[in-house]
Amino acid sequence: VTSWTLACSACDYAQPGDQPAGVCPRCTQPLFARYAAVPPWTVSGRWDLWRYSAVLPVASAEQPVSLGEGLTPLHDAPALARRIGVGRLWIKDEGRNPTASFKARGMTSAVTRARALGAPGLVVPTAGNAGAAVAAYGAAAGLPVRVYAPRTTPPAILMTVAALGADLRLVDGHIGDAGRLARADAAESGWADVSTLREPYRLEGMKTMGYELAEQLGRRLPTAIVYPTGGGEGTVGHLEGDRRDARWGWWDPRRRRSRAWSSRSRRLRPIVRAFARVAVQRAVDHPTTYASGLRVRPPG
Ligand SMILES: Cc1ncc(COP(=O)(O)O)c(C=O)c1O
Ligand SMILES: [Zn+2]
Repeated sequence: VTSWTLACSACDYAQPGDQPAGVCPRCTQPLFARYAAVPPWTVSGRWDLWRYSAVLPVASAEQPVSLGEGLTPLHDAPALARRIGVGRLWIKDEGRNPTASFKARGMTSAVTRARALGAPGLVVPTAGNAGAAVAAYGAAAGLPVRVYAPRTTPPAILMTVAALGADLRLVDGHIGDAGRLARADAAESGWADVSTLREPYRLEGMKTMGYELAEQLGRRLPTAIVYPTGGGEGTVGHLEGDRRDARWGWWDPRRRRSRAWSSRSRRLRPIVRAFARVAVQRAVDHPTTYASGLRVRPPG
């Protein structure tokens, strides 16, 4: 689509899509892109996630900042399905994306919009993979990138960020501390802050995971989607696509929608607790887990 508005996910604020945007200026909650009209299931011949450009924020003549992201394989995993007691189980291999994670999906759309809106540079805090993705897409767009990452981030990811030419700042603390530094940096430098859920466009690239699943499974969605949640970009992104684009007839509305499962580390599960109303939005003091992408604590 070529035109869209940005609507607050929590209040009734809305603004045109052709101006720089962060969070809602009224209530500070995330803004979501909203399209007035979308054609029924339209997939171009392009062999990356921009084949779904009919539901992505990109002008028709515009070349997105792309590194061949998306269209990852879906592996049938019968042995694992038997072990956990489900009829069928697929694993979507998001490690095949550029810089080896699904974060590439969000960055191709966010960096495309940031470049179009004239951002002088990009700033991001990261648990690791988002930083590597911004470093790659910033380089592809010809924009300088600054990445704030906890010192405990896996070295291989930090080496990727540095090798791609980004300015890497190591932070003594967790992702929340990195986030505060990145926000202060963006406010001072005027560079675009592409933190999770602080600009509207990473979600748009993320939602293509749902379209791909539908395409790979013959326009159906699986009974349930289990998604590892850290900051929430992938979880919110794929659910948004599912909720919204079902309305446009992108998949058969009579079929059951997927149930969404958010998976967390056993050691670090503030969202699980929030749902159980045990400790709504209470921060975890030492967010550690081997799943480095999930080392995120709630705000507060
Ligand atoms: C491999 C991987 N999975 C999941 C996540 C969680 O991210 P989010 O909840 O922001 O989608 C991350 C975050 O860095 C990650 O690197
Ligand atoms: Zn709002």
